[in-house]
Amino acid sequence: MKRGEKTILILTMVVVVGVMGWNYLRQRESTTNDTSIPFFSNASAQLSQEAGELVRKYECRSCHTLWTVRDMLRAVPAPALDGIGSLRDREWLLTYLSAPNPQEILPSRLKKEFQMPSYAGLPEDERGILADYLASLQVKDWYLMETRAAECRVLTGEICQ
Ligand code: HEC
Repeated sequence: MKRGEKTILILTMVVVVGVMGWNYLRQRESTTNDTSIPFFSNASAQLSQEAGELVRKYECRSCHTLWTVRDMLRAVPAPALDGIGSLRDREWLLTYLSAPNPQEILPSRLKKEFQMPSYAGLPEDERGILADYLASLQVKDWYLMETRAAECRVLTGEICQ
């Protein structure tokens, strides 16, 4: 191998390892509230920490965005979990996570490997922690209003408040 080729190879490896490391760190650190995004959580510090560990353990971010962060190396078109508690309540979330076949609750058009896996086999307390935490993830009111107004504008062609 020529010297120039070696340099390019080493540089490429540095970039790849760098991107993977940065990706990993972002996923580790991003369970806390960030005031610059239109989402927030009303979970206690303990719940955030426990749920954060489960989210990492079960790799929810290999498909979902959470705190605007997801695994950059996979591109599964799953809905974002940010703000999900403004849409679904704890009971719905627990039932969904406990379903042997989640697609009976939310039908999916995605191919099997992209679909929401069943977490029915998880210990009950872990499903409970995840449901509590997901229910705590809220969208800020102004963002919800702006999103609804934008949707209404698209659907009706009129200026909506
Ligand atoms: C293999 C990819 C994948 C993984 C891993 C995954 N999900 Fe999902 N999830 C999806 C997809 C895709 C959907 C949308 C429904 C479908 O297509 O099956 C979904 C739907 C959901 C929904 C319902 C969203 C809504 O709009 O109501 C919740 C809540 C959820 N997932 C939570 C989780 C949690 C918590 C984890 C980790 C424990 C997780 N998911 C792991 C792919 C995944």
